[in-house]
Amino acid sequence: MLKIAVIGGDGTGPEVVAEAVKVLKCIGELENIPMQFDDFNICGERYLKTGVTITEDEINSIRKYSSILLGAIGHPDVPPGILEKSLLLRLRFEFDQYINLRPVKLLPGVETPLKDKKPEDIDFVVVRENTEDLYTGTGGFFKKGTPDEVATQTAIYTRKGCERCIRWAFGYTRKRNNPKGKQLTLVGKTNVLTYGHDLLKRTFDEVAVEFPDVKTDYNNVDACCMWMVKNPEYYDVIVTTNMFGDIITDLAGILQGGMGVAAGGNINPEPNGCSMYEPMGGSAPKYTGKNVINPIAAINAAAMLLEQEGFTAAANRINKAIAFVTGNKMKSQAAGKMGYKTNEIGNLVCENL
Ligand code: IPM
Ligand code: MN
Repeated sequence: MLKIAVIGGDGTGPEVVAEAVKVLKCIGELENIPMQFDDFNICGERYLKTGVTITEDEINSIRKYSSILLGAIGHPDVPPGILEKSLLLRLRFEFDQYINLRPVKLLPGVETPLKDKKPEDIDFVVVRENTEDLYTGTGGFFKKGTPDEVATQTAIYTRKGCERCIRWAFGYTRKRNNPKGKQLTLVGKTNVLTYGHDLLKRTFDEVAVEFPDVKTDYNNVDACCMWMVKNPEYYDVIVTTNMFGDIITDLAGILQGGMGVAAGGNINPEPNGCSMYEPMGGSAPKYTGKNVINPIAAINAAAMLLEQEGFTAAANRINKAIAFVTGNKMKSQAAGKMGYKTNEIGNLVCENL
């Protein structure tokens, strides 16, 4: 039984997640995959009312699920940092979801801001380390609020953290088996971060020996931003650190058509790991309840969930149906301009499974 914890969250989160669940239920019947869905009321709205983000009991009960489907967490009345730290990052760290997987694929019919680039040119994957770097919350203030104030924010890299992510990325590249050639590019900043990214690069070179069939390359992050825009077709799989991964996946996200389609997986690849899949779009408060938001990213996230759980055929069927709907039905990927309502997009994907 595939047990899925559903966190709709804030704003349009519940609307897009409802479509993802609809598609999962549909494919579950077609492919005979028993699934159980349980809703968890975890969101900024609740935090504002009760002061509680998530309880220990909730953490411990969600831990037993193989997967979490997350809509969006974010509320305009909650100051920045609170929900991010106490919910999203908390779940990533608590469940040791050390891989942040971000496929970047331009689907048929979807517009990219890159002139003359076609779906075959924009098709790569970013593997972002998800538990270290500037995200550990290590640092502090000294003499806060005075003219002598000092603030530190430390980037932490461990051998174990670098190695497990890099090894997974090599394995993923091998499995992806790109017909254009298997290639893993490490993205860092070894010319300036001469300790942390030295460890990163040495680890990469050592693990590479285990994967002689995968071609390797290294880009500094600034150059990577340039190449990604100029020659996105160069990339197959990129592996990078948490902070750089955060930044380059927003750039990549816009190349693939924006937040309406981009999805991510926060993955704990260990046997009993609990992984979390999410559309990248955020809570989009101004569209809440209007049935106009694009659920494609959330449906993409659902396909990733199935893929990671080993249901490759089911995931492929969803991906094909999505490509048919973006290529032949939708007018645009922008909220309110799709030519269909949110729930109609979910229905269209189901009809084309
Ligand atoms: C992301 C987001 C998060 C991050 C924020 C919301 C904390 O930007 O998933 O990319 O920085 O990781
Ligand atoms: Mn981000």
